[in-house]
Amino acid sequence: MSRDEIRKTVEDIYVRVSNESLEKGDVLLNTLHEIQDHYNNFIPVEAAEELHDITGVPLSKIYEVLSFYTMFSTEKRGQYVIRICKSLPCHVDGGAEVVEALKEKLGIDFGETTEDGVFTLEQSSCLGLCGVSPVMMINEEAYGNLTPEKVKTIIDDVKDGKRSDVNA
Ligand code: FES
Repeated sequence: MSRDEIRKTVEDIYVRVSNESLEKGDVLLNTLHEIQDHYNNFIPVEAAEELHDITGVPLSKIYEVLSFYTMFSTEKRGQYVIRICKSLPCHVDGGAEVVEALKEKLGIDFGETTEDGVFTLEQSSCLGLCGVSPVMMINEEAYGNLTPEKVKTIIDDVKDGKRSDVNA
C-alpha cells in the first residue's frame, strides 16, 4: 500500500466519521476504530501520521489514545483478535485452564499471531462481564462461562465460518 493510498483511506474515513459523529470527542476514537477495521485489526504507523497531518491532532495525543485503549494495536494482527480476561474473578473461575487450552489449540502464546494470520491471542484486564466468568472477546463478540472444551469448539467454529456473530 502506497503512502498516497493510506492518506486517501484515512482522509475518507475521517471525513465520513466527522459527518456521522454527534460528539466532537468521538471523532478521534471512532476514526481510529474505523482505520483499524480497514487494515484488519491494526493501525499502520503511516496511517497515524496521516491522521495527524489531516486533523492537526498532535501525534503524541494519537499515540496516547492508541496506548491507553488495549483494543488498538499498531502491530499487524490476525483476522480475529482473541482477548482473554486475566483478572482475578475470571482467573479463580477456571480462567487459567481456559488460557492453557487456548494456547494449546492455537499453538501460540500471548502477543502472537497464528502462522496463517487468522488468530491473535492477547490478554486483557476485566472485560466487565464477571458474572459469566471466565470471559473472552473475539473481535467485538463476548463469550462467557468458558471451559477448555468450549473454547476449542468456538475456535473450530470460527475457523469453519460457523459463527456469524463474529465479524472478521
Ligand atoms: S474479571 Fe473477567 S470479566 Fe471481569
